[in-house]
Amino acid sequence: MALFPLTSTFARRALAGFAALAVPLLSGCSWQSWLGLDGKQSTFQVEGPVARDQLQLFYITCYVTFAIFIIVGAILAYATLKFWAHSDADEHAEPPPQGHGNPLVEVGLIGAAVLALVVIAIPTLKGIWYTYDVPAESKADAYEVVATGYQWWFKFEYPKEQIAGAGPLTCANELVIPAGRPVRIALRSMDVMHSFWVPKLAGKVDMIPNRANFIWLKAEHPGYFWGQCAEFCGESHAVMRFRVVALGPQEFRDWVEHQAQPARSVAAAQGALSFAHVAAAPIRAYAPNEAGVSAAYETAPLDSWRARQLPNESEDPALIARGRALFSEKTCISCHTVRGVPGAMGITGPDLTHVGARSSIAGGLLENNSEQLRRWIHNPGAVKPGNKMWVTGYLVNNIHLASDEELALVAFLQSLK
Ligand code: CUA
Repeated sequence: MALFPLTSTFARRALAGFAALAVPLLSGCSWQSWLGLDGKQSTFQVEGPVARDQLQLFYITCYVTFAIFIIVGAILAYATLKFWAHSDADEHAEPPPQGHGNPLVEVGLIGAAVLALVVIAIPTLKGIWYTYDVPAESKADAYEVVATGYQWWFKFEYPKEQIAGAGPLTCANELVIPAGRPVRIALRSMDVMHSFWVPKLAGKVDMIPNRANFIWLKAEHPGYFWGQCAEFCGESHAVMRFRVVALGPQEFRDWVEHQAQPARSVAAAQGALSFAHVAAAPIRAYAPNEAGVSAAYETAPLDSWRARQLPNESEDPALIARGRALFSEKTCISCHTVRGVPGAMGITGPDLTHVGARSSIAGGLLENNSEQLRRWIHNPGAVKPGNKMWVTGYLVNNIHLASDEELALVAFLQSLK
C-alpha cells in the first residue's frame, strides 16, 4: 500500500479499469471524475454517436476479458488452495497420478475461446462498418469539410461555402460545425503525417501526405470540444491542438455568413492617428508551459467563444490602424491571408481574416486574448519550438518588433472579429 497510496491519481487510474467494468450503468454519475477520467479529452464522456459506438465496444471487450479473468482466477485460487502443501510430509509426497488430458475440458476451452472471440468480433465488425462512413440514410444530410494538417496547426476549408474570388471559406484551428448533423471531414496533410482526433466525438484517423483519408463524426448538441494531433509529427507535435465548436442550425448559418465577409475594418477617428498615448509596456516573463487561461474559457468555453464573436468595446481605432499598416510592413502578409487587407494573401500560415473571433491561438495552444497574443508574436519560438513563423519568418527575415509595434499588431488582430 505504501507504494500506491489510494490518494494518488496513479492508483485511482489503476482502479479505473475495474470500476469501468463494475459500474458503467452509473455513467450518468461522476465515477469518471472520481477516477480522473473526466478531462476535456475524455473518451469516457462521449457526446456523439461515433465515439459512443467506440466506447461501447471498449466496454464489451472489457466485460469479456474481465469474465475470463474471474474464471481463470477462481480456478487458480481453487487449485492453489486444494493442492496446498500443508506439512513437510505433503511437500515430499509423491505427486498425484498424472493424466493425459481431459477431452471434455480441452474441447470446452476451445469452444469458450471461440465464443469469447465471436462475442468481441461481432460488435467490432459492426463498429468498423458504422464508424467508417456516414450511414447511407443520413448521407444526404452530411456536411462536408476539408481538414489539412500542417506543422503544427490545422486548416479547415468549407467547400460548400465558396467566396467569390477567394475560393472556399477557410479557417484555422477551430472547426465550427452544425450540431445534430453528420459531418464528413476529408483529411489531408501538407507536410508529414498527422492524426485528427476529437476524443469526445470520434476516434483518431491519420492525415497522410498524398493519401485521401476521411473521418465522420457528429456532435449531438451544441458544444465546445478539444482535439489534438495524435501522430508524432515533429518537435511541437504535443502542442498541435484544435477545437471543434458545434452550433445549432441558425447559429451555424449566421456564423458561415459572417465568416464569408472580408476582414472587419475599423475606421480611424479623424485626427486620432497618433498612438503616442499608448504606454508601450514591456512584456512580462512567462514560465515554460505556462497556460495563462481565464476561468471563463475553462468552465464555460462555448459561452466564452460566443462572447468573442462581438467587437471589443474598448478598442482603439488609431492603434488598430497602426497595426494594420505594420501587418504589411513586417511582411506578415506574405504568410497570412486577411481578406480585405491589400496584399495579405499568404498561404504558408493560417488565414487570419477573422482571427479575433477565435477562442484560441498558436494552434489551439493559448487562449486568444491580448496578453497571450502578444506573448505569441513576441517570441513564437519560445511558445511553440521550431514553428515556421519563428524559423522561416522572424529569423530568416530578421523581423524585430518593438513593444509599441507588438501592441499595435495585437490590437489589429484582436479587432478582426
Ligand atoms: Cu501533427 Cu502531431
